[in-house]
Amino acid sequence: MSLFRKKDLAAMLAQAEDGGKGLKRTLGAGNLVALGVGAIIGAGLFVRTAAAAGQAAGPAVTLSFIVAAIGCAFAGLCYAEFAAMIPISGSAYAYSYVTMGETVAWIIGWALIMEYALGAATVSIAWSEYLNKLLGGSIPYEWSHSPFESITDSAGVLHHGIMNAPALIILLALTLLLIKGTQESAIVNAIIVFIKVAIVIIFIILGWQFIRPENHTPYFIPANQPPLLDGAGKVVADYSGAFKHGWGGVLGGAAIVFFAFIGFDAVSTAAQEAKNPKRDMPIGILGSLVVCTILYILFGHVLTGVANWKDFVDPLKGREASVAYAISTYMTGYGWLATAVTVAILAGFSSVILVMLMGQSRVFYSMANDGLLPKVFSDLHPKYRTPYKSNWILFVFVGAFAAFVPGSVAGDLTSFGTLFAFVLVSAGVWILRVKSPGMERPFKTPLVPLVPILGAVICLAMICALDAQTLKVAFAWMALGLVVYFAYSRKHSKLN
Ligand code: ALA
Repeated sequence: MSLFRKKDLAAMLAQAEDGGKGLKRTLGAGNLVALGVGAIIGAGLFVRTAAAAGQAAGPAVTLSFIVAAIGCAFAGLCYAEFAAMIPISGSAYAYSYVTMGETVAWIIGWALIMEYALGAATVSIAWSEYLNKLLGGSIPYEWSHSPFESITDSAGVLHHGIMNAPALIILLALTLLLIKGTQESAIVNAIIVFIKVAIVIIFIILGWQFIRPENHTPYFIPANQPPLLDGAGKVVADYSGAFKHGWGGVLGGAAIVFFAFIGFDAVSTAAQEAKNPKRDMPIGILGSLVVCTILYILFGHVLTGVANWKDFVDPLKGREASVAYAISTYMTGYGWLATAVTVAILAGFSSVILVMLMGQSRVFYSMANDGLLPKVFSDLHPKYRTPYKSNWILFVFVGAFAAFVPGSVAGDLTSFGTLFAFVLVSAGVWILRVKSPGMERPFKTPLVPLVPILGAVICLAMICALDAQTLKVAFAWMALGLVVYFAYSRKHSKLN
């Protein structure tokens, strides 16, 4: 048996349309853009914009957004070609099955677990933090943090986390919603997307009048910027590194805000539920990317204009809840907006988690349909026709991470999984163009092979910029995946 055995595209498309027994086709172009925006705007924008400005890019975080968006756009163009051509559940996993064969497909599927399942866990942990903020810190530290975290309070008492209960609760609520149905989930998602986009636009418009030009000068962090210290004289940020000032800082900032773009590819996991995937998949993927990039640049411009970027590394100023800090400190008369932003952020995070959970269950669905995972992952609910058993198993897995692992660990692994899939999807487009030039392509990636090559190179560069610890854990996860593949999946594959 070849390591590179592939699935036949025609058979795959037929399998997706199995006489109405499969997933329902209920989503239009508007739903798909909303799905994308729902997955994209979240912790990345509301938490990492300020972090990138404070640690690396200064006001030029707007340019960091442009750099990260270019990398995503190249990969997005490749995703769009595949999603229109192979409109079935499973996204990058499914595309690589027909282009690069079963082993690569398995590897991608395994990496996507890092993107979607750990992405959902990361954002549910952020959700828990903001909920606590909204409630004035009334949830005990022990019940809102992982056992790997601890803090000494102002009275000198040491607290250890036990489990992150709010993160678990939001995951449970969204799992129940997903089981109820894709369309119901899409409606709830659309409402949330409206709220979060509205609050981003309101912040941009109201904040614009409070921009102080001196906060934007100089626009880049200067090479001779001295380290910033906290009240106790401890260094909280050092700008001497190559990726910490000037144009290098713009790149460093891009790696930090990359997280804010993760999710546009989640649109492609719902291809099998799209009414007209050939036309609507490219619109959904590229449309949501364009909408978010514009909003992000404007948001970064206003945020660094209202508050000085140095505030965003100061633990006593805007290092946490940066947006609420900027509003309540500098936008006199708009205290209500700080609360509204926090509420919108909570809603916004929910839709990110929702789309990530949905994406993951659809990847599992495809892998189980192919025999690479046990059948329980593709069993559909008799009434709702959603993969409900898979949703429950996923809840246990994601919930375990959310409850017991710190958010930063899960977040970096999410970026790895995503970038890895981007690289392979970019390569896949080029490979299929060479091997099957005659195949019908309702949407064509422009300038092949230049765009796929640039997409893969930029994403590889961002992988290299991840820290060594993250890379070690990620490679261990991938190695485990290969063990599972050769011990179970290869033997049970329907290709046998
Ligand atoms: N892009 C998503 C977020 O920023 C993952 O939360």
